[in-house]
Amino acid sequence: MDIAVLGTGYVGLVTSVCLSEIGHEVTCIDVDKEKVKKMALGISPIYEPGLVELMTSNINNGRLHFTVNHKEGLANKKIIYIAVGTPQKKDRSADLRFIVQAAKDIAHNIKNDVIIVTKSTVPVGTNMYIKELILENLTTDLKVEIVSNPEFLREGSAIKDTFYGDQIVIGSENDGPASILEKIYKPFGVPVFKTDIYSAEMIKYASNAFLASKISFINEMANMCEKIGANIDDVAKGMGQDRRIGSHFLRAGIGYGGSCFPKDTQALVKMAENVQCDLGIIRSTIEINELQHTVLLKKAKERFGNLVGKRLALLGLTYKPNTDDIRGAPSIPISEQLIKEGANIIAYDPVGMEKARAILPKEIQYAGSLEEALLNADLAFILTEWDEIIEYVENKLMEEPVIFDGRNCFSLEDAKKLNVEYHSIGRPAVLKGKDA
Ligand code: UDX
Repeated sequence: MDIAVLGTGYVGLVTSVCLSEIGHEVTCIDVDKEKVKKMALGISPIYEPGLVELMTSNINNGRLHFTVNHKEGLANKKIIYIAVGTPQKKDRSADLRFIVQAAKDIAHNIKNDVIIVTKSTVPVGTNMYIKELILENLTTDLKVEIVSNPEFLREGSAIKDTFYGDQIVIGSENDGPASILEKIYKPFGVPVFKTDIYSAEMIKYASNAFLASKISFINEMANMCEKIGANIDDVAKGMGQDRRIGSHFLRAGIGYGGSCFPKDTQALVKMAENVQCDLGIIRSTIEINELQHTVLLKKAKERFGNLVGKRLALLGLTYKPNTDDIRGAPSIPISEQLIKEGANIIAYDPVGMEKARAILPKEIQYAGSLEEALLNADLAFILTEWDEIIEYVENKLMEEPVIFDGRNCFSLEDAKKLNVEYHSIGRPAVLKGKDA
């Protein structure tokens, strides 16, 4: 199948690469000339394990193409994916600017009937709006069908998620375009769930909101565990072994981040407000998550009195490991709070430092290695559970700094072996080899 994909952000690029890997001809269209030039040479704008290898082999076998030219990219295509960004507006709703532009670009450049497949996360009703917009802007009489095909991949395991996902959701007005899409995806061997367009759009928001609320729930339990002397790891394990609950997304920590959960939960609340619905659980999820970004600082202040002039190693800046993405990362509010408290921050991340420099407070210094970040530090905050950070702390015999682990990277048993003072989330502190 000859496919065009509009937008080469995270979702667009991964989708294009995976579609070409299963044998389709894919043309990626983006307005950023520099980015397109680099991608055509196999240089990925994002860090994602396995992506460059698949990108390169499909460029070399002639199935994956990149262009800035809409006319060239869209002409003669029967399937066009929309995977442009839907950033958050000041009023918390989704900004549909790029969606509107994509719809107009499609209308102005297609020459035949098309199926539009929306991968971007869009508020309920947007797919029908896209279809109307394309029809309004067409100059010839063509058939336009629309499919909502929300994306569930996670950064850091996006390729694996595409090939081994739990399901592919396809929302359409009738079975015609849904069946064509089902055929396109057949080589993945992933079960397809067909539904109407509104339900497909809603599945994406409801899923992200549910996962986010699972995280806020376990974080709330973690805060209580600290007060009563319980261990949240065991509590989560015991809960997760009940199959009705499931063990996923019950890792307590400093709260969720990223380009999806924070934005999509806010957009869902806003969308619900527009139809006079109050989503109390999701509002609380957001509030608890924001509070959770402050727990390490509170612990550090309790331990040190104040942080003025303290040298603090900030370890891990991305919102999760195996990505260079800083969007919505807890490192943003946490570093801002630390600067206000007068701490001297020396930060390290295995791959995220370049992007972090553009977003985090200017006062932060960056270290070339973990060793440099930890040298003479009074305290260290672990914000991301990168293997490199875990292995370094585990293998390097050190008595200092005091460690505040925001991701519970070590079991309490292992923390005792570290021979450092160790504070974590929802568990008793460990004082150099002993329980506190
Ligand atoms: C998420 C959804 O999982 C994915 O389906 C959707 O397409 C996009 O949003 P992603 O943001 O890439 O994916 O990462 P995910 O692994 O879901 O983690 C999101 C955040 O939650 C991270 O900050 C992570 O550290 C945090 N998290 C996750 C927890 O704090 N505890 C957990 O148990 C799980």
